[in-house]
Amino acid sequence: MSNDSILKTFLVVFLLCLVCSVLVCMAALVRIDREAYNQLLETRSTVLAAGGYEEQLAEGASEEELFSNFEMKMVNINTGEFTDEINAEEFNPKDVRDNPDMMVEIPVASDVADIKERPKFARVFIDNSKGQVVLPINGPGMWGMMYAYIGVQNDGNTVTGLKFYQHSETPGLGAEIQSAKFRKQWEGKKLYNDSGSIAIDVVKNGKFDPSAADAQHTIDGLAGATITGDLVGDLVKYWFSDHGYGKFLANYTKSKE
Ligand SMILES: Cc1cc2nc3c(=O)[nH]c(=O)nc-3n(C[C@H](O)[C@H](O)[C@H](O)COP(=O)(O)O)c2cc1C
Repeated sequence: MSNDSILKTFLVVFLLCLVCSVLVCMAALVRIDREAYNQLLETRSTVLAAGGYEEQLAEGASEEELFSNFEMKMVNINTGEFTDEINAEEFNPKDVRDNPDMMVEIPVASDVADIKERPKFARVFIDNSKGQVVLPINGPGMWGMMYAYIGVQNDGNTVTGLKFYQHSETPGLGAEIQSAKFRKQWEGKKLYNDSGSIAIDVVKNGKFDPSAADAQHTIDGLAGATITGDLVGDLVKYWFSDHGYGKFLANYTKSKE
C-alpha cells in the first residue's frame, strides 16, 4: 500500500488510537487498584487502633498478622442482624453515601448528633481473637463530617478504642481528637449505665472528675475546642442508640454469651 494512500493514513491513525486507549485503560486500572489497596491499608490501621492494638503495633507487631484475626461482615443496622445481602469485600462506604437508596433518614427525635442520614448497612470488623467488634461511625464536626472507627468488647459496653481517620477540624484545636491523650481516655470507658441507658459523655476540658460516680462514662474534652469535643460525644451517643448500633450490639452480646 502506498504511503500516500488515504486508506493507509486512516489505518495508521486507527492503530495509534487503539494503542493509546489500551495504555490509558491499563493506567486507569492500575490507579484504581492502588487506590483500593491504599484504602485497605488505611482501614486496617484505623481498625487495629480502634481495636486497642496500638501498643502491640508500637512494639513491632505486624499489622497484617494482627488484622488476620479480624473478619469483615455486613450488618443491617435497622434490624441489628448480620446480612449476606451485600458482599463485605465489595462494599465501598464512600459509594454508599452517594446512593440515596442505601441511606436512611434519621428521625429528628433520634438525631442527637444532627447527622441527618446514615447508611442502611455497615461493614463491621469482628476480632475473632478477643471477640470484640470494631464499628464505623461518623457525625458532623465544627467544620465538616468526621469519620472514625470505635471498638467495643463483647460485653457490648466497654470501649476498646476510638480512632478518627477523616475530619476537617482545626489543627491544634478540634483536630486534637486524633491526639493520643484524647484517644487514650476512651479505652475501658462504658457506653451504657446499669439501667442500659447511654451514659457516655464528653465534658468540657478540665471538668472530668476521676472520683465521680460517672467517671467510667466520662471523657475530658479538648482545651479550646469544646465544640468538637461535644460533637464527638453526640455522635457516639447517636451511634449507640437504638437507631444506631443499639440493636446490633444487643444481638452480638447475646451471641457471645
Ligand atoms: C479559626 C478558628 C478555628 C477554630 N476551630 C475549632 C475547632 O476545630 N473545634 C472547636 O471546638 N473549636 C474551634 N474553634 C474555637 C471555637 O470557636 C470555640 O471558641 C471553642 O470550641 C470553645 O471551646 P473552649 O470553651 O474550650 O474555649 C476555632 C476558633 C477559631 C477562631
